[in-house]
Amino acid sequence: MISDHPGTELHALASAGPELATQLPAGSDPGATDALDDAAWRAAPAGRWQHRHLLDTDTLSWADIELILQTAETMSGVLARPIPKVPALRGYGMTILFYETSTRTRVSFEVAAKNLSAEVVNIAASASSVSKGESLIDTVRTIEALGARLLVIRHPVSGAPYLAAQHFGGHVLNGGDGTHAHPTQALLDLYTIRSRIPGGSVAGRKVVIVGDLLHSRVARSNLWTLTAAGADVWVCGPSTLLRGFEAWGAAGVAGNRHFTVTSDLNAALRDADVVMALRIQRERMAGGLLPSLREYAARFGITAERMRLAVPGALVMHPGPMNEGVEIAPDVAAGSASVITEQVANGVAIRMAVLYLLAGASGTGAPVPGASGIAAPGSGAS
Ligand code: MLT
Repeated sequence: MISDHPGTELHALASAGPELATQLPAGSDPGATDALDDAAWRAAPAGRWQHRHLLDTDTLSWADIELILQTAETMSGVLARPIPKVPALRGYGMTILFYETSTRTRVSFEVAAKNLSAEVVNIAASASSVSKGESLIDTVRTIEALGARLLVIRHPVSGAPYLAAQHFGGHVLNGGDGTHAHPTQALLDLYTIRSRIPGGSVAGRKVVIVGDLLHSRVARSNLWTLTAAGADVWVCGPSTLLRGFEAWGAAGVAGNRHFTVTSDLNAALRDADVVMALRIQRERMAGGLLPSLREYAARFGITAERMRLAVPGALVMHPGPMNEGVEIAPDVAAGSASVITEQVANGVAIRMAVLYLLAGASGTGAPVPGASGIAAPGSGAS
């Protein structure tokens, strides 16, 4: 345990970055999760990461984004081990509270937390006291009283994770709120693009997001990260699904990072380096926004023929779940330029990175009942 190590060592470890995790003491087995590994993995990057919660990408500086992406690279190294598990969050309780269905985001957070040795509890709102009328605030307080220090929440109402963060003593991660934000998806998207683009820089690359922008929290969070990375971002769809984006594109993300808004799919796809298709979100769609799915597919579906307008080998992305044959043709989704399954796999590394950084943020987190001898990462205390 960290409390067995002299304070000076702790201080040195705590002030260094997560790259320490790849510089384990000589002779340590990179596949093992032994005591030496434990010390290195509890070296949280105090001082470099200042956020208590991750509610959206809009509050992240470029240095924050770089830190997350670098930390995710270290986590990818862990995932490549025969036993992809490190003790970084041993003793941490994490609750996943989802008020909406999910496969990849929920499982990915769970796998990420377990890889970091956290204790994970899953709550489907439909199977909890929420179905008896319990308020979000009461639910969050109950989860905290039961020992959680990390709370991952997905909610159909935009802003719900912000309310949860006001009432939770630990760290809140937004797993998707209404049409507002999905920060870990945007981060894993950027990580995936960077890992596939020669040279690793997204600056100046044309990234096109096509589909149901209106209901997309993925697109909104991506606009912050992609413009911060210097990409030439285009958003494209029927004008009914672009409402509000023209004004935002003209005003610029953060007031100066402009993006292009168009319903001209050919113009959008021409010379694109990356094409990200978005799902048509029928469950959020009011009547009258689309004549029919068939017409949408005919006018805006990403097909192999349309992809010929993009640069050869342009990356094809989709946050999932896909409506194949609507926003994306099955052969494009499964084609050689598709990185859709890589996005899913990279989601684990990104979520491990974010959990690791948040847990190391200073001055936060309720004590874990029964675990008083275990220091919080980065606290330097025993
Ligand atoms: C989301 O939760 O926003 C998904 O990843 C994208 C979608 O639902 O289409």
